[in-house]
Amino acid sequence: MHPAKAGLTENKKMPSKKLIIANWKMNKGLVQSQQFSDELKSYIEKHKVIDAEIILCPPFTSLEAVNRKFNGTAVKLGAQNMHQESIGAYTGEISAGMLKSCGCEFVILGHSERRQYFNETNALINKKVLKALDEGLKPIVCIGENLQEHDDKLTEPVIEEQISVCLQHVSEEGMANVTIAYEPVWAIGTGKNATAHQVESVHNFLRKKLKKMYNEEISKNTKIVYGGSVTPENAKELFAPQTVNGGLIGGASLEVDKFVAIINSAH
Ligand code: PGA
Repeated sequence: MHPAKAGLTENKKMPSKKLIIANWKMNKGLVQSQQFSDELKSYIEKHKVIDAEIILCPPFTSLEAVNRKFNGTAVKLGAQNMHQESIGAYTGEISAGMLKSCGCEFVILGHSERRQYFNETNALINKKVLKALDEGLKPIVCIGENLQEHDDKLTEPVIEEQISVCLQHVSEEGMANVTIAYEPVWAIGTGKNATAHQVESVHNFLRKKLKKMYNEEISKNTKIVYGGSVTPENAKELFAPQTVNGGLIGGASLEVDKFVAIINSAH
């Protein structure tokens, strides 16, 4: 079936669609990635329409294969990390240009697992954000407080610092291509999601901050998604507030059934 008929073609007129981002982390080899893509693609073709914007972020080694499946469709491709330099002697690293050559439009930056296990700081994440924008990739910038900070009621100062530093020198124009993911660290992979009320209040706080840093328009138009133990059971409630533009899904994005159920609860 032609992709347009299958509802796979991009529809630029519906910016209010929720954004559902799959972060596979270090899961799925080539064959599993292809199987997932085939299943998701046939689901979309069968059901004619997807009422959400979908971004798949497989491991680097599967980017090209997933791109082949969805190239030219409304399902977009993102990477989970990139290096802050364009080219050079950085053994084992991947540049923005390399990601683009595999079909990536997006890149997740500053995920809490990168901060925790690979010592990524706000300053480093800022360099990556600027590089991504400079090279035409759209960063999905992750921020969020850890459990101790949450318990100490430090959520607002922590995320204020994160957003200020991570977005330093990002122009108003650049902000049109930035998505923010609010991911409380205590909710990631723990099965303990934040409540819709908590998410809504943090997102509103972030929008106020964006208004101070930029302007009203950017505060309203910047996409802010929630991540942390989103499941088919809680997605509808978590995505209900208007200020929540969708979700960054880890564990539940690994199975097509669960991922599709989350997509379906997004409208
Ligand atoms: P989780 O992960 O959905 O498995 O909690 C979310 C994330 O880390 O982006």
